Amino acid sequence: MSYIFGVGGYLQNLYWGEPVNAEDCAELMEVNFHSSFDPDTNLDREEFTCWNGRSFAEPCLKLQQGGESVVFTEFAGWEIFNGQEGVQTLRITLEDKIREFQLILEYVVYEELDIISRKAILNNIGGPLMIENFQSAALSLPQLERPFIRYVTGKWAGEFVINDAPVNTGVFTMQSKRGMTGPHFNPSFAVYEEGATEQNGNVWFGQLAYSGNWKISVEKTIFDNIRVIGGMNDSDFFKTLGQGESLETPEFFFGFSNGGFGGMSRKLHRFQKAHITTASKPRRVLYNSWEATAFDVNVKEQMKLADKAASMGVELFVVDDGWFGERHGDNAGLGDWTPNAGKFPNGLGELISYVNGLGMDFGIWVEPEAVNPDSCLFRAHPDWIYHIDGVEPMQSRNQYVLNISLKVVREYLLGMLRSLLAQNNISFLKWDMNRMITDLGSCDGVDHRELWRAHVDALYEIWGTLRREFPQVELETCAGGGGRIDLGILRYADQSWPSDNTDPYERLFIQEGFTNFYNPGIMMCWVTDTHPSYRRSGRRDISYKFRSAMCGGLGIGSNIGSLTAEELSLYSSHIDEYKSIRHIVQNGRLYRLLLPGNSPVSAVQYISESDEESVVFAFLHSQKFGDPCKRLKLQGLSKNSRYLVRTAGSEESDRVYYGSTLMHIGLPLSLKGDFDSALLKIKKLGE
Ligand code: GLA
Repeated sequence: MSYIFGVGGYLQNLYWGEPVNAEDCAELMEVNFHSSFDPDTNLDREEFTCWNGRSFAEPCLKLQQGGESVVFTEFAGWEIFNGQEGVQTLRITLEDKIREFQLILEYVVYEELDIISRKAILNNIGGPLMIENFQSAALSLPQLERPFIRYVTGKWAGEFVINDAPVNTGVFTMQSKRGMTGPHFNPSFAVYEEGATEQNGNVWFGQLAYSGNWKISVEKTIFDNIRVIGGMNDSDFFKTLGQGESLETPEFFFGFSNGGFGGMSRKLHRFQKAHITTASKPRRVLYNSWEATAFDVNVKEQMKLADKAASMGVELFVVDDGWFGERHGDNAGLGDWTPNAGKFPNGLGELISYVNGLGMDFGIWVEPEAVNPDSCLFRAHPDWIYHIDGVEPMQSRNQYVLNISLKVVREYLLGMLRSLLAQNNISFLKWDMNRMITDLGSCDGVDHRELWRAHVDALYEIWGTLRREFPQVELETCAGGGGRIDLGILRYADQSWPSDNTDPYERLFIQEGFTNFYNPGIMMCWVTDTHPSYRRSGRRDISYKFRSAMCGGLGIGSNIGSLTAEELSLYSSHIDEYKSIRHIVQNGRLYRLLLPGNSPVSAVQYISESDEESVVFAFLHSQKFGDPCKRLKLQGLSKNSRYLVRTAGSEESDRVYYGSTLMHIGLPLSLKGDFDSALLKIKKLGE
């Protein structure tokens, strides 16, 4: 893509989109004058708008000094250097002579991945500045005939729902004010021209790397200029910056695709795998009994489950909530991170050795940021929670939030985690956070409005420390399902938990929304017995459940203790199958062939990094009038190569076709009835 801006009176954006030759663009940076009634039309395209009482576009910076908010920045210089990871970085310096500060706009250009990241840094040279709003960037789009925006919204057990809406004149805002990323909105956007599809159309997209209060606004002005402004939410935001102090925004990543939403997703996935998510190994097939046993975990039952899990090929055995303190339900024990003596009389070691002896790794659930009032930790330190003096703090899921911005709390938690990980052979932490942050009261002289960000900084510090000190321990980001998934936390995470909704059909929708913006290599999906919030019969076909879950990182959450021998062997063969294709799913390129909302049949295809292999998962929700499925057209193959196509489970199905045949005529699908599925394995044979 090209992204062009320059100094035309002030720092203004000229263009973002299809590559163009920038050499002849300078003269296009003219100052438009509409009328004396609208003298400010050009300011619509300012690269970083400072509120000064004259620029009326949504501001990126608003501050006060001595009761005045007037800020006029001037271009003062630029430099290009190799920044983090040796990536080419452009740094623009703006200066405000009245207020004596420097504003740095930084652009990191991931050229071969076609992604740029922007952030801003404010260096205060003069007297104290009261910052009220400091956004990461404003991204100007070209003027579009019929602009639309795609974004994802959600709630518990219903995350990553895709929304498409026209971009109308005015300001549309998505945000979080709850101290955490989501799940109500996710900090990702795609603006597109009406008619864009999975394969076609121009899409301008971006993602914010921040796990706290954030805001992305899409502004379309009366002159049809569109800007996307993103960063930390200015709602309840405040920061005093003393002389010599600096403030840095989170990064805002953006790109452009002329290949529709599929093209956008593949660019984001490729970028995330190269620069954000840290996993160097494949996702292990895990077992977790949360949906089967809930809080009722104990060493004997877990050992029995471990036997079964190992026999079916599980690689990582995870004990979820309920293993510690007096945690028999969600109303007590949170905060007391020592194994419950009744459930684990010999500590965790006994189970861990047993699990390791069966050839599996061991992982465990924690929720360090929260505490039940009914816990030893809270009784000992009632002042460690966020609270407003004189106000009864709100409980949510019977818990409070610990003020981890306090050094003493942070160090306590790090100490607890260090000893848990040092004393036990734990190779995976599922880090949960099951409530929003409320009752933020000023504390130790720190204005409460600074604590929103302090919480996120403290969280990143703890995760960063764990990564450094325990590099062998993998981390999963979970927050009551998919409440904390963003490029900020994913820098430290190996995988994520998109939703507590493990219904294999509803998951197809969640997975579509998730993979629009995040890579399937970090998307954990479990095979379970029931939907967590309501019991449903039907939808029990084991292969359907497995294939839905194999579209990401596979986990098992069923009550495997009660499976029949026949079911157990089906589980084993699906797990084996997954292991043979997971490199394609986790590291390959994803093509969403048919979307679950558009027809009863949906399908996704993955192509390996080497281009030699591909897999297709197809799902039929329910057949009507005995209608046969339409032929399924594949994507991303080389048209003159021949491919061997095998339907999993039936070797006699082997057929050879040219890539062009598979992509333009398509494959017959013989799905029937309700909740049927197929897995196709495809190998390139050559030309
Ligand atoms: C959250 C998580 C679940 C499970 C429970 C435990 O809801 O999303 O996967 O860990 O907490 O209490």
